[in-house]
Amino acid sequence: MHYPPLAALLLGAAAPVAQAPTQFPATPPVTPASTSVRTERRWWKEAVVYQIYPRSFADSDGDGVGDLNGITRHLDHLKALGVDVIWLSPHFDSPNADNGYDIRDYRRVLPQFGTMADFDRMLAAIKARRMRLVIDLVVNHTSDEHRWFTEAVKGPGPYRDYYIWRPVRADGGPPNNYPSFFGGSAWEKRGPGDQAYLHYFAAKQPDLNWDNPRVRGEVYDVMRFWLDKGVSGFRMDVIPFISKDPAFPDLTPDQLRHPDRVYADGPRVHDYLREMRRDVLSRYDTMTVGEAVGVTPDKGPLFTDASRGELDMIFRFEGVNIGRDGWRTKPWKLADLKRFYDDLDRSAGATGWNTSFIGNHDKARAANALGDGSPAAAKALATMMLTLRGTPFLYQGDEIGMTNYPWTRIEQYDDIAARNLYRDQVQAGRVSASEFLPELARTSRDNARTPMQWTAAAGAGFTTGKPWLPVNPNARRVNVAIQTGRPNSVLEHYRALIRLRRAMPALVYGAYRDLDPDHPQVFAYTRVLDGDRLLTVVNLSPRRARWALPGGVEPETTLLDTGPRSQRGRRLNLAPWQAAVYRLR
Ligand code: GLC
Repeated sequence: MHYPPLAALLLGAAAPVAQAPTQFPATPPVTPASTSVRTERRWWKEAVVYQIYPRSFADSDGDGVGDLNGITRHLDHLKALGVDVIWLSPHFDSPNADNGYDIRDYRRVLPQFGTMADFDRMLAAIKARRMRLVIDLVVNHTSDEHRWFTEAVKGPGPYRDYYIWRPVRADGGPPNNYPSFFGGSAWEKRGPGDQAYLHYFAAKQPDLNWDNPRVRGEVYDVMRFWLDKGVSGFRMDVIPFISKDPAFPDLTPDQLRHPDRVYADGPRVHDYLREMRRDVLSRYDTMTVGEAVGVTPDKGPLFTDASRGELDMIFRFEGVNIGRDGWRTKPWKLADLKRFYDDLDRSAGATGWNTSFIGNHDKARAANALGDGSPAAAKALATMMLTLRGTPFLYQGDEIGMTNYPWTRIEQYDDIAARNLYRDQVQAGRVSASEFLPELARTSRDNARTPMQWTAAAGAGFTTGKPWLPVNPNARRVNVAIQTGRPNSVLEHYRALIRLRRAMPALVYGAYRDLDPDHPQVFAYTRVLDGDRLLTVVNLSPRRARWALPGGVEPETTLLDTGPRSQRGRRLNLAPWQAAVYRLR
């Protein structure tokens, strides 16, 4: 059977706007956000979030792998940056088939990362700095080494129904044609009898059966366990996938092009999220953000509309994926990116709340993916991210403009997605290594996972040992120590932007309006709250640009500018990647 490259989808195929009918006719109509932005104040709307990928952040014991004590040591960096909330990628016990997104024990810290005492100390140190911690909730699937699964595999018993089992076909084939994100079928036969279990990701990541109320009860208990410890919420891994159509009909050829959309549209996903809110989240002061893989634009508000009681925010990926088609890069137009932000603002903006982000642990580095890898591009993108409407989520290393690693060989990669793609594309004879490898080098998730660059020392101040992934050779130039206090550095620009965001409520709550949707180089928009009118102008191109101020737009003060201001009459002349924020009259 031929499976479409779903791993490629996970890596970021551009998702065109889909027209699937909504199953919730009761959804309130969406009011254009630019005309009405009355929204309740919440701490998580005003927060700046910083994502830590613990394996790559800071290694305190020299084993080459980041750990919790490493994080605790570097909290002052985050505080000085202006961060309010840390999102920690999985820190749980795991065999690491997918770097912790395959959990063996939800109540235990991965021994490589430390102990529960280390976690408690880290959390206390975060709180002492008046920051909060949000953890990763990975409950679409567990590891196949989780006790629930090792019991379930044995056959009938209390845990069998924690997972999803179906008989294999008479010819021994999988129960249906669902593909896995990491290549091959989403079904794997295991244990006695002719039964296969479902795994949307690797075979080592069996999907939980959310239709079983005991499973939901277990998940809610896990959530309470961490909330009672004092975490302030969750980033929810592939949360739209939790509900499955129990009939498991084969995907049509059309659906096979975007199976993630089918996976994200299960019959009871919204029921379960509402139950989770009612039984758990509503009893704590939390923030939640769902990873909305497969959620089409029309369905985003079903997750975030505040009146529905599901999630606070979701991540939508059309923006970060704009320059790629699976493992390949592709040309993109600024007008398309602006259209996405406009759509995002209109859809979640009126009834819910948005996120603003340019990268995460599943993407290539933002400075390369959306820029040309230069510090100027990193600053331009930062200006955009931190002045758009929505809670900003910074990814570790972007605050110093970290770039992609110069990969040349497949053996250098660690990521299961990269390795499986190589197997399915190159080894299966679909493309040549010489075509595949340069593209993978630009799109691989491992670009975001190379060690954080703290200093110019060997090991980049990340480790004194041998790092689990290679340190980018540019660490000698690109690191926290060098940029601290240096005017015009990427790091100081991030700090200035975050200070500005904190000082200007219009950057949080102000209405958003794109002033020139079709300009091919310049992204210019206003943020308006009551009498406060701010203007962001970013040249998102490596060439000089000109932009004419529209009538009624009168810059009064320059709040921040990455280049010398040159205004001639009503025209702004911008250097490549120049970015500025003005207060308008
Ligand atoms: C999410 C995670 C990704 C992981 C996958 C399976 O997409 O962000 O890293 O591989 O889910 O858990």
